[in-house]
Amino acid sequence: MSKKIAMLTGGGDCPGLNAVIRAVTRKALQEGFEAIGFRNGWAGVLKGEFIPLNRERVSGILHLGGTILGTSRTNPTDEQLDQIVRNLKGFNVHALVAIGGDDTLTVASRLHTRGVPVIGCPKTIDNDIFGTDQTFGFDTAVNIATEALDRLHTTAEAHSRVLVCEIMGRQAGWIALWSGIAGGADIILLPEFPMSLAEICQIIKQRQASGKNFSIIGVAEGFRLEGHEVTQTKELDAFGHVRLGGIAEVLATEIEKLTGIESRTVVLGHIQRGGTPTAFDRVLGTRYGVKAVELAAAGEFGKMVALRGTEVVGIPFSDVIHEVVDKKTGISKLRLRNRCVSKELYDVSKVFFG
Ligand code: F6P
Repeated sequence: MSKKIAMLTGGGDCPGLNAVIRAVTRKALQEGFEAIGFRNGWAGVLKGEFIPLNRERVSGILHLGGTILGTSRTNPTDEQLDQIVRNLKGFNVHALVAIGGDDTLTVASRLHTRGVPVIGCPKTIDNDIFGTDQTFGFDTAVNIATEALDRLHTTAEAHSRVLVCEIMGRQAGWIALWSGIAGGADIILLPEFPMSLAEICQIIKQRQASGKNFSIIGVAEGFRLEGHEVTQTKELDAFGHVRLGGIAEVLATEIEKLTGIESRTVVLGHIQRGGTPTAFDRVLGTRYGVKAVELAAAGEFGKMVALRGTEVVGIPFSDVIHEVVDKKTGISKLRLRNRCVSKELYDVSKVFFG
């Protein structure tokens, strides 16, 4: 039985996942490994559910969104991690490539401390993973959000409305910032930078006074209005996250009350994550996949592939994962460091506010 390179996709899906799966498979085969893909994230490793991956199976998937492996937000307990370690040994896995974001990579690092040969591949449309200049999926999401903002301009102007567009971005507002700059938003609101309702309304009023009868606002779902996060439900997922959503509606209602200008909302939601990845994301995903297998073949485990400038490199998990103490419970847990929008970059976007 030849040694295997195994892979899984965990957490929310992201355009470019199939490009990574294809690249890991093709490079693994080139290096003389077998390739397998576990179904539905960590759930598949626990249950031993996998599909053999060969040239035919990964043919024709490069341009497809989603993930042929399926995904889940399964968060293994300590006992389940022990089970995963046993399963991987049983399957003769030389290396496991964990393709995911904060939660998936944190589990990968917990496995690494148990001696599992694991390589991380950073994935999220939010682009908020520390240590890499960009995650695949972000470029696709930015293009989708930019097109939406472009389209909102004409209808907002025709009806003299404020249009508030809610854009994904939980901890960091990268998608809102980039699409907001590219799509000419009149105000961009991010989780990193508070802005009061009074300030927001003042910008809209000033714009109106200067003859512009409409305004486009791009708001990241994690923006806190007067310090309050807007969520869809109070329930937490397996990794302790709330489901965000609704900030656009809250904002539009308040803006209409305070300015008297009719205000409507658009929530882009999962449209930003679905469909075909851009060429950039396909290339980045491909480079990440190839690098992950190169690291695995060289025995450089416990690393995450990352884009640094124009190079794809491997960086130790210890550089990107740290222990944080939960404010509510006082219990410390491992988390991936966040990469947030800098003030300098946000200041660039502010030149065009109003
Ligand atoms: O982490 C990426 C992300 O797109 C966030 O911006 C968003 O809050 C979250 O996923 C929503 O994911 P889901 O609807 O799959 O729970």
